[in-house]
Amino acid sequence: MESVMRDILTRVGGYERCVTEFVRVSSTVLPPKVYYRLCPELRNEGRTQAGTPVYVQLLGSDPELMAANARVAAQLGAPGIDLNFGCPAKTVNKSRGGATLLRTPAVIYDVCKAVRDATPPDIPVTAKVRLGFDDDGQFEDITHNAFASGITELTVHARTKVQAYRPPAHWSTLRSIHNSRGIPVIANGEIWTPSDLLQCRKVSGCNAFMLARGAVCRPDLARAILAHDQGQRVDPMTWEEITELLVHFFDANSALYERKFAINPVKQWLVYLQHAYPQAAALFAQIKRIRDPDPMRAALIGANQSVAA
Ligand SMILES: Cc1cc2nc3c(=O)[nH]c(=O)nc-3n(C[C@H](O)[C@H](O)[C@H](O)COP(=O)(O)O)c2cc1C
Repeated sequence: MESVMRDILTRVGGYERCVTEFVRVSSTVLPPKVYYRLCPELRNEGRTQAGTPVYVQLLGSDPELMAANARVAAQLGAPGIDLNFGCPAKTVNKSRGGATLLRTPAVIYDVCKAVRDATPPDIPVTAKVRLGFDDDGQFEDITHNAFASGITELTVHARTKVQAYRPPAHWSTLRSIHNSRGIPVIANGEIWTPSDLLQCRKVSGCNAFMLARGAVCRPDLARAILAHDQGQRVDPMTWEEITELLVHFFDANSALYERKFAINPVKQWLVYLQHAYPQAAALFAQIKRIRDPDPMRAALIGANQSVAA
C-alpha cells in the first residue's frame, strides 16, 4: 500500500501498523532516496500523520545484501523491517525473490537471520509468507525456519503462490503451525467484513490480522472491526465521506508526484470502492476517460457536492 493511502486509512483509524510496498533488493545497497520515495513517513519518525508506525518491507534472496539494506532502512528511522516471501509476480520470482523462496525454507532462515542480526535489537524484524509455492507440503518447514531465525512476528497469507489471489483463503492451515516460541502469527487473506474476521479468528486460532484489499474497498473496515469486537455499532462511512477522501487522495497524490500521475490512482481506487459502494461504479464510468488533472478534480468535487446538496 502506498503512502497516501496509508495516510488516509490510518486517519480513518483502527490500524496498529502499516507496511510499505516492497523495496526490491537485487544487487546493491539502495540509496536513501529510494527508501524516502517508498516510505516518505521516514521523514516523520517512520509514522503516518495519524501516528501509526510504518514498517519498511524488503524483498530479495541474498542474506548479506538484505541485511545491508535493512541496516540503511533502520538508520533512516524505520520502526520495523518486514521481509516479503509471498510476492507471486513473475519478474520478482525470476530474480529469486518473493514467493520463489517458499521452495527453499533454508534460504528464508538465512535471510531472516542475517537481517535480524544486522538490525538493532529494539527494531522488530517481521516476515510475510504464503502457505507454500505449489502446495502447502513445506508449510511446517517454512514456518519452523522463520521462527528459528529470531523474527518478531510472522504474517501468513493463507494461500499458496499457485493459488495467487483466488478465493478462498485457507485460514484453517494456520492452526497447524507449531510455534513453541510464542511468536505472534498474523492471519491474512480474504478479510472483507467484520464477520470474515470473526470467522478467520475462529478457524485460524490467530489473534492478529492483516487487511489488504478489504481496507482499500472499505476505508473504515479496521475501525468497524474494532467496534464490532467491542460490541458497538458504528455507521459505515457514507458515500459523501468517501467522495471527500477521493478529493483528498487526488490532491495529496498531485502534491507528491506530477499532477497527471494522480489520475490513474483515483481510477484504480474507484474500482476497489465498487465492492462496497455501488455509487463508485457510476463515478468510475463518468471519469474513466478523463486524461487531464483539472477535469478529474472538477468531477470529484462535483461528485462530492452532488451528495452533499
Ligand atoms: C495490487 C497489490 C499489491 C500488493 N503488494 C504487496 C506488497 O508490496 N507486499 C506484500 O507483502 N503484499 C502485497 N500484496 C499482497 C497483500 O498484502 C495481501 O497479502 C493479499 O492481497 C491478500 O490479502 P487480502 O485478501 O486481504 O487482499 C499486494 C496485493 C495486491 C492486490
